[in-house]
Amino acid sequence: MAIITGAGSGIGRASSIKLAARGAKVVLVDYNEKSGQETLDVVKSNGGDGIFVQADVSKSADVQNYVQKALDAYGKIDILFNNAGMMQRFQRFQDVSEEEFSRVIDVNLKGIFLGMKYVLQVMDKQGYGNIVNTASTTAIRAEHSLASYTASKHGVAGLTKAAAIEYVRKGIRINAICPGGVATNMTAAVPQELRESGYVPEEFPNMRIGRFAEPEELAEIVVFLASEASSYMTGSLVLADGGMTL
Ligand SMILES: NC(=O)c1ccc[n+]([C@@H]2O[C@H](COP(=O)([O-])OP(=O)(O)OC[C@H]3O[C@@H](n4cnc5c(N)ncnc54)[C@H](O)[C@@H]3O)[C@@H](O)[C@H]2O)c1
Repeated sequence: MAIITGAGSGIGRASSIKLAARGAKVVLVDYNEKSGQETLDVVKSNGGDGIFVQADVSKSADVQNYVQKALDAYGKIDILFNNAGMMQRFQRFQDVSEEEFSRVIDVNLKGIFLGMKYVLQVMDKQGYGNIVNTASTTAIRAEHSLASYTASKHGVAGLTKAAAIEYVRKGIRINAICPGGVATNMTAAVPQELRESGYVPEEFPNMRIGRFAEPEELAEIVVFLASEASSYMTGSLVLADGGMTL
């Protein structure tokens, strides 16, 4: 069975559908109840099995609740796809408000920490488990005008490696995907936000491959990392960026 956070949209939805198609029972987590339920409907219409749990991943009580709901439903946790995250507005560093910085760190970094912490407690007792975190190319280098987002994703890389070291001989593997540009609601919102703010970054991400990724192309990597096919990988940051970081 697999828990997927941010399951209502984009990479999380595509991965939920693919993991369920491979036979995993899924616990779909999102703070958007409507879109999370829609993903569950797709899973079920494909013959899969799962439940939806509403949660804000930055809130400890919500995270503990989705972990407990997963155990109540399925009695174990094989896979956590720790994926929910948010974008920040493109802005100069000096203009980032403290509130916005805190929210991005709370969701993108603390949310990943909380998911790992409470799921690792379960996986440690089980003696097995597999965690895939969603980082970003901004986990390994900066993106212009995205200071908070870059800092949060560097943090995700750190948490991934720190946990991978601790659990390397305990049957638990922890890896991260590092997407570049993916065609999801997150990236679709950017042009309008730039128009509204009137701010134009000096550099934009370079999609060298000439297009955004489809969420399904990331979901394939998630399925691979969550499976025995990647049995020798732990602490890896897996780039899938169409050449963006070359
Ligand atoms: N789209 C890209 O180009 C891209 C690139 C690199 C990394 N990422 C990362 O991929 C992950 C998924 O993003 P996506 O592109 O699929 O975006 P998306 O906006 O399509 O999906 C994100 C989902 O997460 C949910 N979510 C957001 N904040 C939440 C919270 N606090 N609690 C619970 N659910 C929450 C949203 O409701 C949404 O369903 C994020 O971590 C994002 O940073 C995306």
